[in-house]
Amino acid sequence: MAGILQADIFTNKTALITGAASGIGRGLALHAAKLKMNVVLMDLNTDGLNETHSLMADCPAMIIHCDVSNLEDFSKAKEKIEAKFGAVHFLFNNAGIFLEGRAWKADQKNWQRIIDVNLMSVIYGLNLFVDEMIASQERCHIINTSSMAGIIVGPALAPYTTTKHAVVGLTRTLHEDLAGNDMVGVSVLCPGLVKTNIIERDHLGLDLDESSIDQHESAKNNAQWLADGVKEGMTPEDLAIIVFKKIENNEFWILTHPEFVEVYETYANEISANRVNLD
Ligand SMILES: NC(=O)c1ccc[n+]([C@@H]2O[C@H](COP(=O)([O-])OP(=O)(O)OC[C@H]3O[C@@H](n4cnc5c(N)ncnc54)[C@H](O)[C@@H]3O)[C@@H](O)[C@H]2O)c1
Repeated sequence: MAGILQADIFTNKTALITGAASGIGRGLALHAAKLKMNVVLMDLNTDGLNETHSLMADCPAMIIHCDVSNLEDFSKAKEKIEAKFGAVHFLFNNAGIFLEGRAWKADQKNWQRIIDVNLMSVIYGLNLFVDEMIASQERCHIINTSSMAGIIVGPALAPYTTTKHAVVGLTRTLHEDLAGNDMVGVSVLCPGLVKTNIIERDHLGLDLDESSIDQHESAKNNAQWLADGVKEGMTPEDLAIIVFKKIENNEFWILTHPEFVEVYETYANEISANRVNLD
């Protein structure tokens, strides 16, 4: 039954997936292809895009090399999509990079880069596609990839955590703004550890000088903890199954890792325990 419902929502609709050359984006793309969607694969990494495409089930697809942190590049990519598929119905703002560092120690260039990739690209995606989704009066959905780091914090992860919290705030606001619209759904994806290349230093989106990264022990330890964790993480394919189910159910929160729920609760309790007593 779930399969039939999914087909009703997704088949022949167009999905744009940023960061589709690797990891979570690739997992989403493979799943979208199985659902016979029109799949637009977007990334900086052309080899990775071709590899994703070669792994996909047969479906209408297109590959676009694009730096989503650059509005001009992203706008040109939109024109190419329009020419081939028309409107985008499912927008996965997923491309992202990781950077550790204590709050006052990450350098300005690095801050700018991670804000541009992890936050501005999501804002650009909304700028470019949401009006047309509303106008289409078809079932559409926006899925912004944040992280567990968009809800909770760990030490020496300031650049990543800051951008991911911003994506949660942005997406929650979008959800409120579209609350009266039954056709355009909104979700924020907050995964825990997923087996991808996110912690790798050599991928194209990062474009940073290693020597400019905070070398403090706390930063190194946390980055190492994450690097070890993602190796044992959930597979992108399993994650994609959860994501598409949540979209189908039109759920805002896509929390994929139950092992972090207790930490979320501790965080929420800490806030509510500190509420101002006005009596
Ligand atoms: N892997 C995890 O454990 C995890 C956990 C929570 C959230 N996330 C988030 O999931 C998303 C996907 O990451 P992933 O884990 O699959 O990592 P990944 O490195 O495997 O994939 C990210 C992709 O984004 C692309 N990219 C980076 N900058 C880009 C740019 N400017 N323009 C276009 N493409 C760009 C990269 O080339 C890469 O192909 C990210 O937003 C990440 O923060 C990952």
